[in-house]
Amino acid sequence: MKKILLLGSGELGKEFVISAKRLGCHVVACDSYAGAPAMQVADESCVFSMLDEAALRAAIHQHQPDLIVPEIEAIRTEVLLEVEQEGFEVIPSARAANLTMNRDRIRDVAVGLGVRTAKFSYAESAQDLLTQAQAIGFPVVIKPVMSSSGKGQSVARSASEIQASWDYACQGMRGDRQKVIVEEFIHFEFEITLLTIRQRNGKTLFCDPIGHVQERGDYQYSWQPQAMKLDYLKAAQEMAEKVTSDLGGAGLFGVEFFVTRDEVIFSELSPRPHDTGMVTLISQNLSEFDLHARAVLGLPIPLIESTEGASAVVLATQDGTNPSYSGVADAMSEPGIDVRIFGKPSTRPYRRMAVALAKGSNALARARAAAQKIRVISA
Ligand SMILES: Nc1ncnc2c1ncn2[C@@H]1O[C@H](COP(=O)(O)OP(=O)(O)OP(=O)(O)O)[C@@H](O)[C@H]1O
Ligand SMILES: [Mg+2]
Repeated sequence: MKKILLLGSGELGKEFVISAKRLGCHVVACDSYAGAPAMQVADESCVFSMLDEAALRAAIHQHQPDLIVPEIEAIRTEVLLEVEQEGFEVIPSARAANLTMNRDRIRDVAVGLGVRTAKFSYAESAQDLLTQAQAIGFPVVIKPVMSSSGKGQSVARSASEIQASWDYACQGMRGDRQKVIVEEFIHFEFEITLLTIRQRNGKTLFCDPIGHVQERGDYQYSWQPQAMKLDYLKAAQEMAEKVTSDLGGAGLFGVEFFVTRDEVIFSELSPRPHDTGMVTLISQNLSEFDLHARAVLGLPIPLIESTEGASAVVLATQDGTNPSYSGVADAMSEPGIDVRIFGKPSTRPYRRMAVALAKGSNALARARAAAQKIRVISA
């Protein structure tokens, strides 16, 4: 039986734990607060900040896992590089976790591999940001190099908005570097996540592309398959294969692309299951979590089958604890609808608390209608 140390215990971790438990693994779920979703289904749990170097190292040495599986970006990845040298296995690799923790590192890797990205530059002050934005041309997108879920991200349409974008980025920044990436705004037709699976033995596999819509930098709903031209799909697959093979290791990656009328543009990548990929809980024979578990355990993936599916998030509206949910029965009364409630112990505005899933024709409209029926009631 493999022992897994899961770093980060949110809703994606919870589904991964369920997949790994079904394959007989022993899972220790870690996060900075008790009662996190993945802890509710794991064998053991451990509470500490993944950014605390000493605590992270201590947890690894105490539990002696066969596999260290990161679920979040905000991890003191230097420790992962170090323990990998000691012989611990990090999924997919300590290098992948380290390079994707910051947007600039993975972006530089992609560029080095000749992968098409939006025009971009970096800035370390408001003045610098203005200079770079003017060189790229407005509108531009500004993101802290260390942040996720859209935190600190904004669009500046003219020079007069630069100071506000800089201040907003500084507020949303994680870690110790005051650095932002400033990007050309891409007027895409749609954006996709291409779930890409690197196997221990066997070729790289791809799921059907997942389309999604984001608000405030967080995904609101996703669907599979997103129809796209075959040569664009091939181009995305080639880029995904290039970047993931450079990162190495085994596991599932969420590779994000913008698709315009003329081309496919690489955006970013997660070396782990992706939130927009929750649709695969209903659309595929093996969900992205099952696929990640099989890949990291070195089990075969002979076939990925999918049908039309969609997911839509249920968000909290206010601060509170011990939430309850109304409208769940109503949402689930339609055939082909399922709901996942993450079991988060507290709420805050826009916190993702549950997801509605639909399969079959018109899945997207049905998933969104189901999500809208569910209300989070905070005590
Ligand atoms: N250059 C761009 N042009 C147009 N839209 C963009 C650009 N960069 C980001 N966006 C929009 O903002 C969303 C979030 O950006 P990105 O994925 O880079 O940030 P994130 O904080 O890592 O998000 P997440 O953690 O949710 O994946 C994108 O999915 C896209 O909708
Ligand atoms: Mg993203």
